[in-house]
Amino acid sequence: TLVLVLHGPNLNLLGTREPEVYGRTTLADIHTAMLERASRADVRLESFQSNHEGELIDRVQAAASEGVDFIIINPAGYTHTSVALRDALAAVSIPYVEVHLSNIHSREPFRQHSYFSDQAVGVICGLGADGYLAALDFALARLTQQH
Ligand code: DQA
Repeated sequence: TLVLVLHGPNLNLLGTREPEVYGRTTLADIHTAMLERASRADVRLESFQSNHEGELIDRVQAAASEGVDFIIINPAGYTHTSVALRDALAAVSIPYVEVHLSNIHSREPFRQHSYFSDQAVGVICGLGADGYLAALDFALARLTQQH
């Protein structure tokens, strides 16, 4: 069983990037916490961050042949712009949960539309880094139920 965690542009700067909006937890901290929880459940977990739309699309396409069972994705700025990344997820038809650290609905109007939410199994936003762990708990429960 394999879970893929995808992080979009600028999330490599977590910890120092607008900490009042995104918190002080780094991407490495998030990865470590998720890895620990997944390995306790005997599930493999991989994380990938990119500032490039095409690299994220390539990673989604590769996930299909790697047997990825579930995706947790924070598309970051691409949330509000990327038809192409949305299409990649639809093409591989791997179920995914969309995560945002901030509550995008309480921010600028342009953040309130997501190209991902209607195809997602669910959406978590506004819980900070804990949102990733909530998404992982959901994925682990769902994946272990299936076996
Ligand atoms: C974000 C919200 C997006 O609007 C923004 O572009 C990000 C991060 C979040 O996690 O809150 O880069 O996805």
